[in-house]
Parts: sequence; structure tokens; C-alpha cells
Amino acid sequence: MKILQISSSVRGENSYSTQLAYLLVERLIAARRSVDETEVAVRDLGRSPHPLLDGATLQALFTVTELRTPEQAARVALDDALIEEIQSADIVVLGVPMYNFGVPAQLTRILHKLTRALTCLLIDMKDFVQSGV
Ligand SMILES: Cc1cc2nc3c(=O)[nH]c(=O)nc-3n(C[C@H](O)[C@H](O)[C@H](O)COP(=O)(O)O)c2cc1C
Repeated sequence: MKILQISSSVRGENSYSTQLAYLLVERLIAARRSVDETEVAVRDLGRSPHPLLDGATLQALFTVTELRTPEQAARVALDDALIEEIQSADIVVLGVPMYNFGVPAQLTRILHKLTRALTCLLIDMKDFVQSGV
């Protein structure tokens, strides 16, 4: 089983939400009945924020793989690695503080990645347009 813990506080070791996420992962491991190995990966978005979706990134995403520059390929690879990490996890534990009545920007940045059309959402854009949504 793979557990992915994602922390999004910028307060490092002092973060309550990160400490809670660690605790939850510990409890999940302790509560397991199966003898299979449990793999835990930690992604700390406070320490290592995922880059913004900016114009250059959008351009990279809309450029076919073969025509991407090395910089574009490297940027898309970061998103691909993130998506793969989340899709391959059996359980995702989120550590989320409240900042200004919302979730941290560090977290929303990665949520944008998870709605990437055709990779994460198997939608047909023609149907989408025809449905009038
Ligand atoms: C920039 C910032 C904005 C915050 N905004 C809110 C808020 O809107 N509502 C709230 O109840 N607490 C707010 N807080 C308090 C945090 O939720 C609280 O400090 C929490 O412990 C942060 O999570 P962490 O310990 O995981 O970093 C804010 C804290 C910071 C640093």
C-alpha cells in the first residue's frame, strides 16, 4: 500500500496541520491488518512549492511532446511526476492549514494539476461543448 502525505503549511516543523498529518499516517499504518509493506512518501509544499501555472507553463502543456524545448519538457515533467505520484497512491493524507479563510496557495497550485484534461479527466471536449456546460 502506498500512502502519500502532502503538507501545505509554510511553518515547517511548527505546523500543527503537518504534525496532524504525520500522526494520521502513523495511525493508518498501525491500523493496517494486511502484512503487505506500506510505502510512505511525503511531499512538503511549504518547503518545496510546486511551480505556478503561468503562461509559459500553459504554452509548454499545449505544445506536442516532440516539439517542446528542454525547458518546456522539464516543466511538464514536474507536473507529470506530481500527477503520477498522486494517481499511484492508495491513500492521500492532506495537511491543510487555513490561510485567509481558504486553503494555502501551495495546495491550490497542485489541485490545478489534477484537473488536467485528457490526463486526469477523461472528457471529450466536443461533448463538453455540445452539452452547453
Ligand atoms: C497568513 C495566515 C492566515 C491565516 N488565516 C486564518 C483564517 O482565515 N482563519 C483562521 O481561523 N485562522 C487563520 N490563520 C491561523 C492558522 O490557521 C493557524 O495558525 C494554523 O495553526 C496554521 O496551520 P499550521 O499550524 O499547519 O501552519 C492564519 C494564519 C496565517 C499565518
